Amino acid sequence: MSLTELVDKAINNIQKGKGYLDHGNDGTIYAITDEVVLKLHTGSYRGSPQKSAEYEFSFGTELYQHGVQVPQYLGLFGPVPLHHREGCGIFMERIHGLDPSSLQFPGLLEARRQYLEQKKKIEELGYVVKDSKNVYSNTLFDPKQNKLFLFDLVRWERK
Ligand SMILES: Nc1ncnc2c1ncn2[C@@H]1O[C@H](COP(=O)(O)OP(=O)(O)OP(=O)(O)O)[C@@H](O)[C@H]1O
Ligand SMILES: [Mg+2]
Repeated sequence: MSLTELVDKAINNIQKGKGYLDHGNDGTIYAITDEVVLKLHTGSYRGSPQKSAEYEFSFGTELYQHGVQVPQYLGLFGPVPLHHREGCGIFMERIHGLDPSSLQFPGLLEARRQYLEQKKKIEELGYVVKDSKNVYSNTLFDPKQNKLFLFDLVRWERK
């Protein structure tokens, strides 16, 4: 699907409240296709939702290019006029995964091993991973690929 088609579908989903997956402090996640999600930024941690979206997109692209296990970042969304405000966000690869804390052995050990490995790699590249209270809060484990994905990079820093 082209970026233009993704944008049309995203606007339609947001307006109709279709495809809602989850939300947090920085944004709301909508499923756009089976392979693509939109993170619609609502938080202003980087100054504004648009700045947060731009930051997450450029940082995510950089990490993906270095082979870090993050979703593939596909493009920026917006600013687009929505009901009551301008919408900004990012399109990214949809991860069909589980919250690692819901895993049993040996999946749990594998998720933990990959988390520590990715964190080390990210730090060696010169970035700072912002852990939340729960280390797994911004990760999903895809059992089919046996792969842990790290995401939600708005609060991570380049050194
Ligand atoms: N690429 C993705 N594929 C599938 N689900 C995703 C993807 N990105 C995010 N999610 C789901 O949406 C939730 C919220 O996304 P994200 O952590 O990026 O938002 P946030 O607003 O920054 O969250 P918080 O402030 O709670 O950390 C995630 O915890 C995850 O369950
Ligand atoms: Mg999060």
